[in-house]
Amino acid sequence: MGNLSVVGLQWGDEGKGKLVDYLAGQFKAVARFNGGSNAGHTVVIGDKKHTFHLVPSGALKGKELLIGAGVALDPVVLREELALLPERVREHLLIDGRCSLVTPYDKELDVILERMRGSSAIGTTQRGIGPAYAMRALRLALRASDLSNGVDSTAISRYYARMGIDSSGVGAWVEESKRVVTGLEGDVCLRVLEIGEKGDSVLFEASQGTLLDILHGSYPFVTSTHTIVSYIPAGLGIPPSEAGEPLGVMKCYTTRVGGGPFPTEINDSNSEKIRSVGNEYGATTGRPRRVGWIDLVALKYAIKLNGVKNVAVSKLDVLSEVKDFRVCVAYRHLGSETRDFQRLLGHLHEVEPVYESPFTMYGAEYATRLPAQAEKLVDYIESALGVRVSLVSHGDERSRTIEL
Ligand code: IMP
Ligand code: MG
Repeated sequence: MGNLSVVGLQWGDEGKGKLVDYLAGQFKAVARFNGGSNAGHTVVIGDKKHTFHLVPSGALKGKELLIGAGVALDPVVLREELALLPERVREHLLIDGRCSLVTPYDKELDVILERMRGSSAIGTTQRGIGPAYAMRALRLALRASDLSNGVDSTAISRYYARMGIDSSGVGAWVEESKRVVTGLEGDVCLRVLEIGEKGDSVLFEASQGTLLDILHGSYPFVTSTHTIVSYIPAGLGIPPSEAGEPLGVMKCYTTRVGGGPFPTEINDSNSEKIRSVGNEYGATTGRPRRVGWIDLVALKYAIKLNGVKNVAVSKLDVLSEVKDFRVCVAYRHLGSETRDFQRLLGHLHEVEPVYESPFTMYGAEYATRLPAQAEKLVDYIESALGVRVSLVSHGDERSRTIEL
C-alpha cells in the first residue's frame, strides 16, 4: 500500500483526528506537514478523550510520529502534550530541524494584531501561529535546529523589542525549549523517503481545512499556512510523487470557528441541537463552533483543489437527533444562481444559499451496517460530488466507523 493523506474539505474540525487514529494501523508513521498548535485533533478511546495539538494523531497506535518542516512548533505546548502521553510516545517522535519555533512573543503579537483588526478580527486561536510564520517569511524565525546549534537569543529578542514586546525572558524560554527538543530533532524528509524505500508507507495528517488555506481559502479569514494536499511535498520536503492518495474528510453538516463568511450558517434550534449533540466546541479554544448545513458548492471546490476521489463522511450520528436536513446545492448572487465557488471566493459574504431537503436523517440507528437513510445520504453525496464515499463515521470511538 502507498502513502495516504487525510485532508479536511471544510473549515476544519471535520473529524480528521479520529480517522487518522482509525487508519494509522496500516502505516509505519503518521506525519504532520502544516499548521501548529492552533490545531485540535480529538481521538476518543473508550471513555477517554485525547486532544492533540502538535503530536500526530497516530500517537495512541504506537506509530512513528513525524513533525515536518512546514509545522510551526511551539516547544512549550509540545512539552505539555508529551507529559500527558505515555513515555514511549516521545521515543517515537522525530521533529524536523527546519521547523520554525513559536515563541511566547508570537502569542503576544497574535493578541495585539487581532485587537488592532477591530471588527474585522479573524478570530485566531491566539496560539502565535500567524506571527511565527510571518517571522519565518521575514527570515527572523528560530528553527528547531538552532536550539542544538547554540542560538544567540539576544538577536531575536531585539526584533520583538522593536515591536514593543518585552522579550527579556527569551533566554529562559530558549533553555526550556532546548530541554524539550533535544534528542528529538532530525531530518523528516529523509525518514519519509527511507520508510518508502523499505516498502512501508506514511499517513499524512493535514491540520485545519481546505477553506482555511492561506492562498485558496476565504482570505483573509484563513489560517496562516497551507491546508491542502499540494503542501504535503513542500511541508515535508519530499517529491510530489510521494504525497500519496488523498482521502477527503467532510462532516454531514458544516462548522466554522472564528470570523469570516459562512454561507450555510444557521442560527436556530437546529444549530443549537447540532452543537450540543455533536459537541461542537473548539478543541483548542473551547469556543462554540458556528454551525450550518452541508455546502455542496464549497465541497466541490475543495474536492477539485485537492484532487480527491475518496471521501469519508463523519458525524452521521448527530443528524439522527435533528428533524430537519438541508443541503446547499447552489448560491444566489446578484439575482442569479451559481455553483462556481471559485469565482465567488471574494463575495461569500454576499451569497445566499439555495437549499434542497432530499430526505431526513432523523432517527437513523447505526450498527455494523449502514441504515437505509445513511445509504441514501452516501448515494446523494457520491452523485452530487462525483466521489466515492469509502468511510462513514457515526461516533467518536474507533468502533463507530463503517468501511464501504
Ligand atoms: P489561527 O490559525 O490561529 O491564526 O486562526 C485563524 C483562523 O483559523 C481562525 O478563524 C481560527 O478559528 C481558524 N482555525 C485555526 N486552526 C483551526 C483548527 O484546527 N480548526 C478550526 N479552525 C481553525
Ligand atoms: Mg479541530
